[in-house]
Amino acid sequence: MTERELVDLYIKFFQSKGHKNITGASIIPENDSTILFTPAGMQPLVPYLLGEKHPQGDRLVDVQKCIRTGDIEEVGDATHLTFFRMLGNWSLGGYFKKEAIQWSWEFLTGKQWLGFNPEKISVTVFAGEGDIPADEEAAKIWLEVGVPEERIYSFGMKDNWWGPTGATGPCGPDTEMFFDTGKEPCGDLCKPGCSCGKYFEVWNDVFMEYRKTETGTYEPLAQKNVDTGMGVERTVAMLGGCSTVYEIGVFVPLSKRIRELAGTTETTKSEKVISDHIRSATHILGDDQGVTPSNVDQGYVLRRLIRLTIRHGMKLNIPKGFLGELSSIVIEAEGQEYPELIRNKALILDELEREEKLFGETLIAGMKQFNKMLPNLLKNPNKVIAGRLAFKLYDTFGFPVELTADLAAENGMTIDIDGYNKAFEKHRELSKKGADKKFKGGLADNSEMVTKLHTVTHLLHAALRKVLGDSVQQKGSNITAERLRFDFLFGEKMTDEQKKQVEELVNKAINDKVSVEVQEMSPDQAERLGALGFFKDKYGDVVKVYTIGEYSIEICGGPHVENTSELGRFRIASEKSSSRGVRRIKAVID
Ligand code: SER
Repeated sequence: MTERELVDLYIKFFQSKGHKNITGASIIPENDSTILFTPAGMQPLVPYLLGEKHPQGDRLVDVQKCIRTGDIEEVGDATHLTFFRMLGNWSLGGYFKKEAIQWSWEFLTGKQWLGFNPEKISVTVFAGEGDIPADEEAAKIWLEVGVPEERIYSFGMKDNWWGPTGATGPCGPDTEMFFDTGKEPCGDLCKPGCSCGKYFEVWNDVFMEYRKTETGTYEPLAQKNVDTGMGVERTVAMLGGCSTVYEIGVFVPLSKRIRELAGTTETTKSEKVISDHIRSATHILGDDQGVTPSNVDQGYVLRRLIRLTIRHGMKLNIPKGFLGELSSIVIEAEGQEYPELIRNKALILDELEREEKLFGETLIAGMKQFNKMLPNLLKNPNKVIAGRLAFKLYDTFGFPVELTADLAAENGMTIDIDGYNKAFEKHRELSKKGADKKFKGGLADNSEMVTKLHTVTHLLHAALRKVLGDSVQQKGSNITAERLRFDFLFGEKMTDEQKKQVEELVNKAINDKVSVEVQEMSPDQAERLGALGFFKDKYGDVVKVYTIGEYSIEICGGPHVENTSELGRFRIASEKSSSRGVRRIKAVID
């Protein structure tokens, strides 16, 4: 089965159970500052899991592109990928455990669906932890559908709890489904969830009935939801009897070309890392909300992915300048499904080339620095380079520690790698503290301030178009409890006069105390009404349209305030370039 066939089958199955097929969202979260990338299908649906009404109803199905870099070190094993697609069916306060589990079972084992041998399937359920009781209901339903007791395992929060993706947000117990590959168990403790390769996780049904609060407690949600996730690449690999995810889809031509470039017929971990990272980098650059390499946030993750690709290319002795060619293979293979890759191809290739050049310069600068340090280093009788020095090379010059290790070895030395890791960890903790601070709040926890700033964002968007013209288009939006950030297409720096006019227009809408109205309609009707909305290929057959008096009309999922009188005084805090042709405004309400 191909990836496309699996996606189609899944969607068809859930449509037959009354689900509406919605289009997946961007991999760069919109309006949500709690995370850098969309890590799961549930992320774009957070407002609806928290009670906002979805225009397509309470039963949804989709396939969502995701990025997870938390496990980046694992990439290259059988199952880990930093970019992958996740199938999901959703109940927003509608059906709950019984239907979710019955349908999962039917889809997995039904002859006209995936047709897995039921005897090969094991499941896990939540065992209870802290104040939250065991999920006896899920276990009972599994027994009823026919899974024998010995194949129903119970685990605590570490294994059978999902979410929230940020510090706060919707979460709950889950039940996971595993396929037994028939391999010998790795020991007495081998059970579903073990990483030895015997059990392959296929699907996760999350019963989102809690919300984690700012104080770390779990409070019941007003609405009980179902969030399920099935990894497309993993499942297709498993259905095809492959031993790793690198044997399917785009990975086939990618691996082939990488081996040719490296002049080898052997498959290596580097080859897999390159395949995975170039695919992720292509999708991050190619997303319509896409970002470019930088030293902060998403741009930093992207930079790291690209530089790791180059490093592994060096390991395989691949001549430089290979990123564009491999990226083109990804665009070719996945562009039909993700047309944004084709639309943004020139930008993707351009940025990859630029980053490769920059990294080359970094390496030269790092090498120079190393050579400067060398005479002193050689004086050390132990021939060990201190961890903090290796870290300094990395932190100040972006010089990767593996390269320092290579250079050290060439000069008969080693690195104190423990010391390096310690310095690295310390730095990470400090920046994590900074990041936690930065990411507090956000649309994901629906805080009042975020909702206000979301409404202000609509007013700002409309005001910018009035002052700067209709070529202004939203490129990205990110809101924290402290400020809004709005990226838009516009080629020049705004003048002080233009900024003043925009502020005045937004403040006029606020002073006029206008009510914010929401209506549901077809995307065509919304367009006829002049509603702003630039992701046309992404809408379903019903959309929500928010109107703020004469000031703004825009397609949007919400939430928003009811009246502009709830907002404070609007002020632009900064206006600068964010990438070529894109300006970034940060603004606050006082
Ligand atoms: N949110 C869950 C996961 O990512 C199910 O979709 O596994």
